[in-house]
Amino acid sequence: MSDVVAYEKQGEIALVTIHNPPVNALGQAVRQGLLDGVLQAEADDEVKAIVILGEGRVFIAGADIKEFGKPPTEPFLPDLCGRIEASPKLVIASMHGASLGGGLEVALAAHYRVAVPGAKVGLPEVHLGLLPGAGGTQRMPRLTGVEAALDLITTGRHAGAAEALKIGLIDRIAEGSPRENGIAFAKELLGEGKARRAVSDLPPPAPIDWDAAYEAVLAKGRGQIAPAMCVRAVQASVELPFAEGMKRERDIFMELMQTDQRKGMIHAFFSERAVSNLPELKGVAPRDVSALGVIGGGTMGAGIATAALLAGLQVVMLEMSPEAADAAKGRISGNLQGALKRGKIDQAGFETLTEKALTLATDYAALSDVDLVIEAVFEEMSVKKQVFEKLDAVCKPGAILASNTSYLDVNEIAAATKRPADVIGLHFFSPAHVMKLLEVVVPDATAPDVVATGFALGKRLGKICVRAGVCDGFIGNRILATYRTAADHMVLDGASPYEIDKALTAFGFAMGPFAVADLAGLDIGWAVRKRKREEGIDPRARTTDYPDLICEEGWFGQKTGKGYYIYEAGKRAGIPNPKIMEWIEAERSAKGITPQDFTHEQIVRKYMAAMVNEAAKVVGEGIARRPLDVDMTLLFGYGFPRYWGGPLMWADIVGLPDLLADIERWAEEDPFFWEPAPLLKELVETGRSFDDLNKAA
Ligand code: 3HC
Ligand code: NAI
Repeated sequence: MSDVVAYEKQGEIALVTIHNPPVNALGQAVRQGLLDGVLQAEADDEVKAIVILGEGRVFIAGADIKEFGKPPTEPFLPDLCGRIEASPKLVIASMHGASLGGGLEVALAAHYRVAVPGAKVGLPEVHLGLLPGAGGTQRMPRLTGVEAALDLITTGRHAGAAEALKIGLIDRIAEGSPRENGIAFAKELLGEGKARRAVSDLPPPAPIDWDAAYEAVLAKGRGQIAPAMCVRAVQASVELPFAEGMKRERDIFMELMQTDQRKGMIHAFFSERAVSNLPELKGVAPRDVSALGVIGGGTMGAGIATAALLAGLQVVMLEMSPEAADAAKGRISGNLQGALKRGKIDQAGFETLTEKALTLATDYAALSDVDLVIEAVFEEMSVKKQVFEKLDAVCKPGAILASNTSYLDVNEIAAATKRPADVIGLHFFSPAHVMKLLEVVVPDATAPDVVATGFALGKRLGKICVRAGVCDGFIGNRILATYRTAADHMVLDGASPYEIDKALTAFGFAMGPFAVADLAGLDIGWAVRKRKREEGIDPRARTTDYPDLICEEGWFGQKTGKGYYIYEAGKRAGIPNPKIMEWIEAERSAKGITPQDFTHEQIVRKYMAAMVNEAAKVVGEGIARRPLDVDMTLLFGYGFPRYWGGPLMWADIVGLPDLLADIERWAEEDPFFWEPAPLLKELVETGRSFDDLNKAA
């Protein structure tokens, strides 16, 4: 009947099986095939029950996201679900793998649901800037009550089969293949003479305080609108008859479909998957890595070791002295305690990881058998070079030597060894066992299978890997340095760090740049400034002096209790440190600057323009392969709001010509900082967007 949906009869049971790899997405052909399957079964008097199931690794992963943004085609999914539910025959969904979004909505339209123990269900539409648009917001609350439905719908999280059974989303968990389970359940229901059972016929659930729920979800979403709109749709399931609730859900769905947030989120969805897809690595096999060396067990080394241990690797941690090695072990144990508390490992696992999988050492000989070493010692070229010379001497042939440096030239580090083809940068973010981003920094001489190994290791550690070329700060920190400088300039010109932080959190960042600096440690930026001064700063660059005064006081941010903010014991959020504005005002008057007022909108515009302009340079120079590589770097390493898709997607959305015009206007006053990126100019001249470059890559 259809290429993607098969129809088969087993006595009085019709099996309608979706086969649309890789994830049985509900594209037009699948929707049509499902409808045809149901109609065929209904036309056959012998058929008493219809089992819907999926072939391959999932039941159905949802609507076909690739169709979004295009004109909708019939049969529409809500109508299909309505038609399935209205079927006079008994309809059973037999679920395995993932049943997500529209996939779960198809299952909710069935009269009974059975799932294998490992099945996962969810309505993750909020992660795409949408809400469930095929009855999910109307049927789920009728089955589970409002509270459980709002939890799943507004967070988009997946629930396991056991939870799904407990909250009433499914009727049964069964071992076996989806086919066997579906047939057995159908036979049993028919044998017991069970009637059809439409979820839409169930009474509406009890109401809650809708406005409070809406506000709470809105605040949690940091400006993301879809989760809050889910509250309104679920409210309709309680207050309106089913058909009207469906209409309300559809209206909100279509409204959200038109939003920039939907575009940004879907860009993030596909880019997250495309980012590690590098044509030059096709067919290149990574080297085996089962034992990892880590040099330096400070903040980063301990985090990296933790991530590696949790991923099942053997780790040899090398420190400078037995005391430092003990301290490193303490940090790793502390991190693993966190994993234990969150239920990621049990007590026995904790002991295995700390006592068996982890070896502490102070002698390089302990590294003779590891497959890959990550260096995370102090950020000084001379120290790094010494470490790499020693590693080169002791590590076995074929072992990969990696540096976690934040800014330093990995080509120069590689040149300290006799195996530059085996040297790479693996730039983790702090805390390394938590943050998702890994920049795989590729120096000139690195062999392709070493790059492939970097990506494979990152994936094993659960990271989103982005390929970066060598330059000061690679992709992320280089762009950060520029937009931070834009913020510093705005401070000199009249904005306070606190207004800047407020404007950017309202834009959607988890934290503003000054609160982030306090969290990361102000000494890090201080060290960079000192190094840059030693290297020689271009005399055309505007500089700020007051940040050094903060550090000279010994105020390094959260870890010392004071920085831009003052942190009271036990509190994570700080209050503005009054001394900061004094220093800023003194510097403004010493430099003869008359402070201007900045609106939040002006702050965001300048900050973002600086970010986009530097990002365009990073792409133009080939440091990042594609605009989407920059977008994923900022999303996963720098708290950029996901619903904007990334800075270059944001730029496409707000419009490149206007952005370039602003940059050129600011360049009249400060031509050094605001020099427009050649790539940005080229895109404007040729009427293209950053996303056009993604698509062409
Ligand atoms: N539509 C189109 N393509 C999809 C898709 C979907 N719903 N879900 C996954 N894919 C694609 C991926 O882009 C990827 O393509 P690629 O190989 O070309 O990169 C491929 O399928 C495999 O996906 P993953 O790499 O993510 O495979 P995993 O095994 O890691 O994960 C999954 C499988 C858990 C199903 C995961 O893909 C996923 O979460 N998918 C999205 C689910 C989702 O968001 N569903 C809701 C859709 S919106 C909706 O249903 C609206 C409705 O309410 C009206
Ligand atoms: P840290 O100061 O917390 O830790 C460094 C550790 O290295 C110390 O424990 C020290 O005893 C050890 N060490 C120093 N020289 C050594 C040597 N020769 N042999 C063995 N051990 C040695 O520093 P942190 O923050 O962990 O940074 C380490 C590296 O990671 C730096 O290159 C830094 O730029 C980079 N990085 C730091 C990030 C951060 O947020 N802290 C983020 C990403 C990268």
